[in-house]
Amino acid sequence: MTTADTKSTGAELALREFVKLASQPPAPGAGIPEDASPLLKNLWFSWNRQRIGFQWLLQQRCKKLRPRTEFLLEWAMTECYLLTGLPQHACVDLAVEYAKSHGGKEEAGFVNAVLRKLLREAPDATALSALLKDAPIAVQCQLPQALYERWKKSHGAQWTRELAELLQAPATVTARKRGSLTALPAPLNFEDAQKFLQESPAEFNPQEFYLQDASTLLAPALLNPMPGETIADLCAAPGGKSVAIAERLQNQGRLIATDSAEGRLPRLRENLAGCAIAEIGVQDAAHPTLPKESLDGVLLDVPCSNTGVIRRRPDVRRNFSIQHLQKLMEIQQEILEGTAPLVKHGGRLVYSTCSIEDDENITQVKAFLQKHPEFTLEDAQQLYPTSTHDGAFAARLRRN
Ligand SMILES: C[S@@+](CC[C@H](N)C(=O)[O-])C[C@H]1O[C@@H](n2cnc3c(N)ncnc32)[C@H](O)[C@@H]1O
Repeated sequence: MTTADTKSTGAELALREFVKLASQPPAPGAGIPEDASPLLKNLWFSWNRQRIGFQWLLQQRCKKLRPRTEFLLEWAMTECYLLTGLPQHACVDLAVEYAKSHGGKEEAGFVNAVLRKLLREAPDATALSALLKDAPIAVQCQLPQALYERWKKSHGAQWTRELAELLQAPATVTARKRGSLTALPAPLNFEDAQKFLQESPAEFNPQEFYLQDASTLLAPALLNPMPGETIADLCAAPGGKSVAIAERLQNQGRLIATDSAEGRLPRLRENLAGCAIAEIGVQDAAHPTLPKESLDGVLLDVPCSNTGVIRRRPDVRRNFSIQHLQKLMEIQQEILEGTAPLVKHGGRLVYSTCSIEDDENITQVKAFLQKHPEFTLEDAQQLYPTSTHDGAFAARLRRN
């Protein structure tokens, strides 16, 4: 088999898996499986970053597309314009073959015509970007209209464009040396991290390093657990923040790390392996079973829209809707309400998200404080994504 044949077989496999994955209804949290092949992961991330533009270009050129055909065309666009590992003619041939075997001759002819016309109009990524100049601004920003409007209203058009541009880049990877919690770790970009992992496997001992975005350390830092305390992390899985809390507790005290999703517990257990004081289990934080006034500190890293981590989770664009945001806000309020009575007098509650939406962050905290004068706001910090870290929010409330 020649290298070209191998590439094309790999691409064909990835194409089949890609269309299957893309055809699943968008569901928050249901992204790419962790064990997906690197090729599929690369396809998935690249497609999600540019999909809004691809969709718009296809809508301008095709009357109505059935989802499978749309995903197939978008696969070809991702391969031809973004990944470029296969010659364009090979991509078109693969797409046409796929269309023929799944939809018959007519569909194959249609896919062939659309792709060849598009490639004549825009032979490369630069030419494709030029075609997008006529698109609405939200499309040029590769943002869902509703999210673009929200950000424009709260921060202005210029801010939104700049952030949208930043979000097109892959996320940086940060390796934190375990135990080094007081200072934010120096970030590594993706290439440096790969090099580090490849060249220093002996030095990269998972017991010693933890791959974690710097912004995720904000909430544990605000909680500031002290050895001997009873601390609960009630939306804990997969456990990035629990690990940071465990390190601060230094195996003295109690760490109750629970999550409502049983399927996410294995990762949590894996991450907390070796932490003798961890009590791991399933629990709904809106209706916790822990005794009242039993906690020195609690972290509520609640489910959210994830708009601060779009670089790491580009499919957030696909799942964002105002309706879903409102549903999340209700869940966040229920979790806050359910958990507040567990905090001891003098204890603290840290509320955090990886969202940059005020509605999920400071507005939630203010609404909670209105109803709970027994709590006082001590600190609140909103991080926006930068070239070195993601977006995140955390607020520390003290029970009087
Ligand atoms: C943002 S993630 C937590 C990330 C985690 N703190 C970390 O640092 O790795 C939110 C978590 O909340 C969990 N969750 C959602 N609703 C919940 C509820 N009612 N009670 C407890 N956990 C919940 C989800 O299963 C998810 O694991």
